[in-house]
Amino acid sequence: MYIVFEGIDGAGKSTQIQMLKEWLEANGFRVETLVEPTDSEVGKLIRRILQRHDAQTDSVQKTLGLLFAADRMLIMDKLNDESKIILSDRSFISSLAYQEPAEWIEVLNRYAKKPDLLLLLDLDVKKSVARTSGEDTFENEEFLTKVKANYLDLVEKYEHQIIDANNGVNKVSSDIKKAVAPYLGICPDCIR
Ligand code: TYD
Repeated sequence: MYIVFEGIDGAGKSTQIQMLKEWLEANGFRVETLVEPTDSEVGKLIRRILQRHDAQTDSVQKTLGLLFAADRMLIMDKLNDESKIILSDRSFISSLAYQEPAEWIEVLNRYAKKPDLLLLLDLDVKKSVARTSGEDTFENEEFLTKVKANYLDLVEKYEHQIIDANNGVNKVSSDIKKAVAPYLGICPDCIR
């Protein structure tokens, strides 16, 4: 099963993935975690570009669209490992939410794997801005307001659950477990 976590910067995806991983392993599942951008050469280049002062320009934005798609292509085989539950911190759905134009981003990501389950960690934009450093190009209120709205439209195309990420970390974790449990044959009422 390929479970993708999406949400604006600071939504708590990495913390929640770690908590879900530990819980799934305690329930006897084999779990692999992934992060996009990856730690490949392309991923490292992306992280450098995200901190450039001209990162907002159209040409750099288009370059990022290409690089995110290339970076993702490098991990395609890993996503098809059916012996494990794969928990991914972002996916091509991030590209659809953050980059444009949509038709072009869709073409670039034509071969990207679709999630079996998409978990949208939905956080208020003001909280996101307060939680992040502001160093990366996308970490500003105006842009993230647009990204949040894009996400709420995009999720409708996939099997998804929206999780309120404004709550405390343990409440969010328990909401995620309840959302995931039915897909794995775990009784949702047995989760605290
Ligand atoms: P991420 O590692 O999630 O952020 P952080 O290092 O702050 O935890 O991702 C880096 C940034 O890249 C983030 O602002 C989202 C953006 N991004 C895209 O714009 N498109 C994409 O396809 C992906 C995967 C990430």
